[in-house]
Amino acid sequence: MNTPPHTTPPHTTTPDTATGPQPSAEPEPVFSVRGLWKVFGPKADRVPADKELGALGAAELRERTGCTAAVRDVSFDVRKGEVFVVMGLSGSGKSTLVRCLTRLVEPTSGTISIDGEDVLSMDTGRLRELRRHRAAMVFQHFGLLPHRTVLDNIAYGLEIQGVGRGERRDRAAEFVTKVGLDGLEHRRPGQLSGGQQQRVGLARALAVDPEVLLFDEPFSALDPLIRRDMQEEVVRLHQEEGRTMVFITHDLNEALKLGDRIALMRDGRIVQLGTPEEIVGAPADDYVRDFVRDVPREQVLTVRSAMRPALIGESQAGPALVPSATVHEAIEAVARTGENARVVEDGRCLGVVDRAGLLGVVAGIPAGTGKAVA
Ligand SMILES: Nc1ncnc2c1ncn2[C@@H]1O[C@H](COP(=O)(O)OP(=O)(O)O)[C@@H](O)[C@H]1O
Ligand SMILES: [Mg+2]
Repeated sequence: MNTPPHTTPPHTTTPDTATGPQPSAEPEPVFSVRGLWKVFGPKADRVPADKELGALGAAELRERTGCTAAVRDVSFDVRKGEVFVVMGLSGSGKSTLVRCLTRLVEPTSGTISIDGEDVLSMDTGRLRELRRHRAAMVFQHFGLLPHRTVLDNIAYGLEIQGVGRGERRDRAAEFVTKVGLDGLEHRRPGQLSGGQQQRVGLARALAVDPEVLLFDEPFSALDPLIRRDMQEEVVRLHQEEGRTMVFITHDLNEALKLGDRIALMRDGRIVQLGTPEEIVGAPADDYVRDFVRDVPREQVLTVRSAMRPALIGESQAGPALVPSATVHEAIEAVARTGENARVVEDGRCLGVVDRAGLLGVVAGIPAGTGKAVA
C-alpha cells in the first residue's frame, strides 16, 4: 500500500489496498490492481525495476531516461456496486490509470484482475469482450453518430455486439426513458443540447449492460447547471441499478458528491484512498489537506465526527439522527429544536451532538480533543 499512514475514524474500514484475503463481509472486488506502473518512453520497463530510477521526480526521470512515469506503483480494489472516484490535477495520471484497466494503455508492470481473471494475460478476443461487455468506457466526447437518431445512437453499442434489430430497439427505448429523453428519440444529435447529448452517450453505455462503467471526465466540458444535472443523473442511476462505476474527475466537489471512495492522485501515485469523510476529515498529508481546505466540512462529515458519549438521561431526549446524517443536517436539527441531538442506530443511542461538537467540526476541531487538525 502506498498511502501514507493516517488516522482512520473508528467507524470506517481501512482502505483495502493491502494484499491478502479480505474479511468475508467484503464483497469480492471487481477490479483488483497491485503495484501498477505505466511508464512512457524508451526502455520503460527498467524504471519500475530499478528502485533508484523509480524514486526520481518527474523532471529528473525525464532528464536521465527520457521517460515519463504516468502511473507509479498504484494498488487498489474497486468493490462491487461502488462508485470509485479517481481524482487529481491535470497530468496526475488519471486517464492513464483507467485506460490500463482494460489495456487501452498497456501497463509497464504490476497486476490487474477483473472478477479474479488476470487482465494482462487476456488474448485479443477476450480483451474485446472485456471492453464491450464487462467494462465500458464513457468518454468526455461521446462520439455520437451525427446522422443517426437518438434511438439508433443508443442502440449502436448493441449493434456492435450483434444483438438483433428488434431487441436492440426495445432495449434502446428502455434507456431513452431511463435517462429522461422521452419524446426526443427521433432527433439527431445536432438537434440536442449538450446535456441531452451527454444523456444519449450515457444511455448508449448503459444499454450494453456492462458490469463496470468507466467514466473519464465526462462532464468537464458542460456548463455548471447541466453538469449538476448529469451528476445527479449518475447518482440516481447508481442508486437504482447499483452498477459499479469508476469515475475520473479533476473536480473535488464532483468527487465528493459521487464517490463512495476516492483515490487522490499526485504525480502518478495515490496519495490517499478513502471515503469523502476520511479525505476531508483526516487528510493523509499536507498536499491533501491543502486540496480539501475549502470544502464545506459540515456537508461532508457525518455526525459520528461530532458526537460525544451520552450522559445519563440524554439518550432519551432531543431529535434523533441516523449515523450517516451530515453535520449540516445536525446543525439544522439542533437549531430548530434548541436541544442536543441523539445519534441513533437500530434503536440504540450511539452518542449525542451538541453545539460545541458541531461548531468544533466546522472549525476543524475533532470532538472532545479541543485541538485543531486543519
Ligand atoms: N502517450 C503518452 N506518451 C507520453 N506521455 C504520456 C502519454 N499519455 C500521457 N502521458 C503523460 O503521462 C502523464 C499523465 O497523463 P494523464 O494520464 O493523461 O493525466 P490526467 O488524465 O490526470 O490528466 C502526463 O505527464 C502526460 O503528459
Ligand atoms: Mg485525463
